[in-house]
Amino acid sequence: MSIAVGQLKSAYDEVPYASHPFPHSAPENLAAVAHLFGLDTPPAATARVLELGCSSGGNLIPFAARAPEAQTLGIDLSGVQIDMGRKRIEALGVSNIKLMEGDLSALDSKELGSFDYIICHGVYSWVPPHVQDAILRICKENLTANGVAYVSYNVYPGWKAKEIVRDAMMLRGGSRATSAEQLSYAKGMLDFLEQVAPKDSVLSKTMELTLPELRHQQDYYLAHEYLEPFNAPCYFQQFVERANGHGLAYLAEAHPSTMFADNYGEQVAAPLLKECGHSQVLVEQYLDFIVNRTFRQTLLVNGDRGSEIRYRLDGERLRKFHYAAHLPCLDGESHLDDSPQTFGATGSSITTQRVEMKAALEILSASWPKPFPTTTW
Ligand SMILES: C[S@@+](CC[C@H](N)C(=O)[O-])C[C@H]1O[C@@H](n2cnc3c(N)ncnc32)[C@H](O)[C@@H]1O
Repeated sequence: MSIAVGQLKSAYDEVPYASHPFPHSAPENLAAVAHLFGLDTPPAATARVLELGCSSGGNLIPFAARAPEAQTLGIDLSGVQIDMGRKRIEALGVSNIKLMEGDLSALDSKELGSFDYIICHGVYSWVPPHVQDAILRICKENLTANGVAYVSYNVYPGWKAKEIVRDAMMLRGGSRATSAEQLSYAKGMLDFLEQVAPKDSVLSKTMELTLPELRHQQDYYLAHEYLEPFNAPCYFQQFVERANGHGLAYLAEAHPSTMFADNYGEQVAAPLLKECGHSQVLVEQYLDFIVNRTFRQTLLVNGDRGSEIRYRLDGERLRKFHYAAHLPCLDGESHLDDSPQTFGATGSSITTQRVEMKAALEILSASWPKPFPTTTW
């Protein structure tokens, strides 16, 4: 085990990461997004699923419990976290899941077997480069021909500002003897900078942007996100190039609505589509600058499936989904005419003047949370 990986193991054994489910990484969502863009994938209910850096299984255990015919394996470096997960599994009586302690960069991928879905959430940016390569290698070598891999990671440009804060926290806290001391000194640095940042300076803008989120985070998160030796964001385009180098193709984001220039208004969409032609990756890289994106949840497939991916939505495929949404009309009552009206909630809304769209949103909101198969429309 390299020194860097040994340090990470100690860090996670000492301060375990709270392990939660991430719904957008669920095999059912990966299958749905792949279907949306033209790819058929193995049914999630009976799939073989691998999670890399699974911590104590908070993401994988719920899937195993709701898909009893699936087979699942989680791997993590920290023996402490794996033991915590095994105890939970035993208490819950879930039998189709195994957790294994191991260093991803030292695994023999042939011994692991193949998987229909490989999930790696919150790991890629927080490990040294040779472990990042191991993640992409496993996503390629252990993925079935029509499987989907999910890798999440921190991205620029959003992390450029956050790095100022992380660097300042590391400067004061990084070299302290214990994790608790590191955190305490680092938080003191934040308080100090907040007090002294000159008005309208880059520092004060950065603090304004970053602190509200930081103040809400728990200690385990701050310790691993801001005070660990590895937190290496990259640009989306760089990530895709590196995945391509491992024989993987970019499929989509786990939140597909973020992928389309049209969702950012005409002023953004028209010039971007003209400038970027048919390059989906370039369009999204431009969008990352516009929204100052900090985090991505990217779906990858075997490189030879790249030519089957279709970003133009296909009515036939859309008809196979079930739909559920709670997007009430914000004016109170929708008018079934061509007046523009907004539906949804603050921060997440749709404005439309199309009668059929308004009617669909009314029907969905009235039946929420029950989903609607389109065959009933
Ligand atoms: C930031 S935590 C994320 C945990 C979990 N996936 C989540 O998002 O809640 C990173 C995880 O990666 C694991 N990890 C780091 N380096 C690893 C390696 N070389 N092999 C296996 N797991 C590793 C850590 O032990 C830790 O559980």
